[in-house]
Amino acid sequence: MSMHKPVFVLAALFAFGAGTAVAETPGLGKPITEANITAWNIDVLPDGSGLPPGSGTAKQGAPIYAQKCALCHGENGVNPAPGVLPLVGPSKFDRIDTMKTVPYYKYATTLFDVTRRSMPFPAPKTLTNDELYALSAYILSLNKIIGEDEVMDAKTLPQVKMPNRDNFIVWDPDDGSVRPRCRTRQETEAARHFADYGLVSVRGKWRRKRHSGPPFPGAILMSRF
Ligand code: HEC
Repeated sequence: MSMHKPVFVLAALFAFGAGTAVAETPGLGKPITEANITAWNIDVLPDGSGLPPGSGTAKQGAPIYAQKCALCHGENGVNPAPGVLPLVGPSKFDRIDTMKTVPYYKYATTLFDVTRRSMPFPAPKTLTNDELYALSAYILSLNKIIGEDEVMDAKTLPQVKMPNRDNFIVWDPDDGSVRPRCRTRQETEAARHFADYGLVSVRGKWRRKRHSGPPFPGAILMSRF
């Protein structure tokens, strides 16, 4: 019986304390403006929500790419500078260490989003919406995912079907030792196969697992995901 009383008092104190903490703010800062939110609220979702107005084609994107991207990502998206990924790559992922670049994206909107928030590397957020649509169109067309004359805009870009769209699964290894990761079915099979042999992929190279102790099935260290 006597145990219940202090607990009740404590609970009451917490409830009271929480109430006063809300009322007494330090009075610092000021409400954020809509304009400030807009500048940062730039995520684009697979269904196209968040895409801005504007449009562009591969033909319009080619000269912009040559001027602002080729230096690092290579002319026509191949043979990039050391340490930078090409933007054109395989679209069939039947080996876990297949090089992954734009065709690995599940949604075309990701290309727009990545470019808008982080590229060109030294000066992100300097591209206009039209330039972003034109560059997306150009990179998709270099990968033969869309045609040269297709117009990319807020309506057409989410409709582009990426080559690997339906191949992703969420893989949850049986022993729960690593977090579930998205993979294509073929990659998952390859991963399971190699894990059985005690191999992990580190930056695209197969290495023998170093750790001792219980077997660690499904432990795959991927270079990029
Ligand atoms: C100064 C070098 C530089 C320039 C210029 C540059 N990039 Fe990049 N870009 C990078 C680096 C570094 C990465 C990160 C590489 C990685 O993902 O490992 C990257 C990544 C990317 C990715 C993600 C690739 C992936 O596989 O997920 C895209 C898309 C991209 N850049 C597009 C562009 C576009 C479009 C332009 C031109 C407007 C551009 N970049 C200009 C250096 C550059």
